[in-house]
Amino acid sequence: DWTMAEFRATKIADIRAQVGDGRVICGLSGGVDSAVAAVLIHEAIGDQLTCVFVDHGLMRLGEAEQVVSLFREHYGIKLVHVNAEERFLGGLAGLTDPEKKRKFIGGEFIAVFEEEAKAVGGADFLAQGTLYPDVIESVSFTGGPSVTIKSHHNVGGLPERMNMKLVEPLRELFKDEVRVLGRELGLPEIFVGRHPFPGPGLAIRIPGEVSKERCDILRKADAIYLEEIRNAGLYDAIWQAFAVLLPVRTVGVMGDHRTYDSVCALRAVTSTDGMTADIYPFDAAFLSRVATRIINEVKGINRVVYDYTSKPPGTIEWE
Ligand code: XMP
Repeated sequence: DWTMAEFRATKIADIRAQVGDGRVICGLSGGVDSAVAAVLIHEAIGDQLTCVFVDHGLMRLGEAEQVVSLFREHYGIKLVHVNAEERFLGGLAGLTDPEKKRKFIGGEFIAVFEEEAKAVGGADFLAQGTLYPDVIESVSFTGGPSVTIKSHHNVGGLPERMNMKLVEPLRELFKDEVRVLGRELGLPEIFVGRHPFPGPGLAIRIPGEVSKERCDILRKADAIYLEEIRNAGLYDAIWQAFAVLLPVRTVGVMGDHRTYDSVCALRAVTSTDGMTADIYPFDAAFLSRVATRIINEVKGINRVVYDYTSKPPGTIEWE
């Protein structure tokens, strides 16, 4: 794509001009946006960039390892991998209110990031994978009556506190354009084409209290669901698909004994920007195949339901 090739060259020149011989620090989330921003900046300034990956232990199956190997081994980007699972799960213990969970994770994320940024000697610039819709969304909330449906986590306040300037090379792009740029930069398809994933991770897909055990159960169910979606060739037709582990236990029967385990809900939506969404109309055979596999293969789940709620009135995530 020649326009993206041009965008890439222009941005690299812009980044060099902005940063000079300064140092840049970039937080990786495991998502497409921060990954594309980091690779683009690395191409512009090489080792002046340090990436920090705050691993909150709330990622999907195998994704934390993927991020680390892609950045360190494939791109040779300086990467600090912070294993903060215990710290996050410890703080989440006892929290059940969705906003309290979100606020804790957002705050803790900033705290860990700030500590690590200091530990590597600080930086002059903070890089972020902010997209155009993020820019508009934050603008549209100023002035008018603002209703916060969910507090999104970002590193608000951090740049000023640490005396850093922002580098946001993706500010003019939409999500689909970021994907094109990612491909242009050689990011693997499994990364570039990946469904969006919320900053608070699996914590907001486990209504009620989050624990390591419940995260592990959810990761297994989610991986089976996504594997079936990929096998059916449906992954790219769906904006987002994921499993939710409900804080409800129901009675079932397996073989000749009674079970009393958790309910798993499956969600899949189509959307162009995440602001509105329609449910994905799987056929019944597909859904029963997934349900059967999850119940047979994941200890702790004995019932699977499909979420038929569009956005609005529902939100895409359950919390
Ligand atoms: P909702 O649930 O509000 O989500 O319909 C819309 C889109 O935003 C994602 N989402 C988040 N992304 N940090 C993020 O980076 C967050 O805190 C967050 N909460 C929701 C969600 O996955 C969907 O794509």
